[in-house]
Amino acid sequence: MINLSGKEAIVTGAGSGIGRGICSVLALAGANVLVTDISGKGAEDTLKHCGYGDKFRARQMDVTNENSIDEIISEHIKDRKKIDILVNNAGIIGSEGWSNREIPNSQDWTEVYEVNVRGVVKVSERVSKEFQNQKRGKIINIASIAARQGSPDSPHYSTSKAAVVSWTQSHALQMAAYNVNVNAVCPGLIWTPIWESIARKRSQFGGSLKTEGLKGKNLFDQFVKAWIPLQREQTP
Ligand SMILES: NC(=O)c1ccc[n+]([C@@H]2O[C@H](COP(=O)([O-])OP(=O)(O)OC[C@H]3O[C@@H](n4cnc5c(N)ncnc54)[C@H](O)[C@@H]3O)[C@@H](O)[C@H]2O)c1
Repeated sequence: MINLSGKEAIVTGAGSGIGRGICSVLALAGANVLVTDISGKGAEDTLKHCGYGDKFRARQMDVTNENSIDEIISEHIKDRKKIDILVNNAGIIGSEGWSNREIPNSQDWTEVYEVNVRGVVKVSERVSKEFQNQKRGKIINIASIAARQGSPDSPHYSTSKAAVVSWTQSHALQMAAYNVNVNAVCPGLIWTPIWESIARKRSQFGGSLKTEGLKGKNLFDQFVKAWIPLQREQTP
């Protein structure tokens, strides 16, 4: 495994699912990790889950709120002097009650764009100020398989993730002169609260597959069989 001893990493949306998994892997590689999430409790739970003592710190941070971002990043720089890695992982699938609506409403589009697109841009721009001073840094944006394929019931989410890929390409060009790498990854299917919500919706309204009578994880497994060549789910 890559050795990240002495590196300072910041992960957004790290109070659950994939973000928590990313923190565990960063910890195994020896990095110091600032675990952030809109849910302070979620961030604290990740800290306990990873169990890496004072190499880990947890902070409540809302990626849609520039004051919240500035406060946490400024505090981090004051304490730790540098940032080596930013993982923009925070993301949502819809606004409250999304899975009970057959067609996403205006609020779904707005909130998903605020978190998934504007949130990535806001955190990236704040951290990039530090990267420009340091003349180095790495940004990893968590996009999705949804960026590359349409979706009948969550076009707002798919287009938001396509925007993350496009933003990544633009930001990589902006930051190249400062020796900063900006990349995106497109995970496939992972059983997290986001997929629980997609399964709830598809068990009510159907989806692109025949899933009548299937619910929850059983419905998810049907998508894994159809979409993933190795027919096995990924893990956070
Ligand atoms: N689960 C999948 O199959 C899958 C596939 C591809 C990509 N993704 C992406 O992976 C990322 C993580 O998703 P997950 O599946 O682990 O879901 P999750 O719901 O378990 O995690 C998302 C986290 O983001 C946090 N969050 C939400 N709004 C926030 C905000 N405004 N500020 C800060 N944090 C906020 C939530 O509290 C939560 O802890 C998302 O960007 C998602 O779109 C997921």
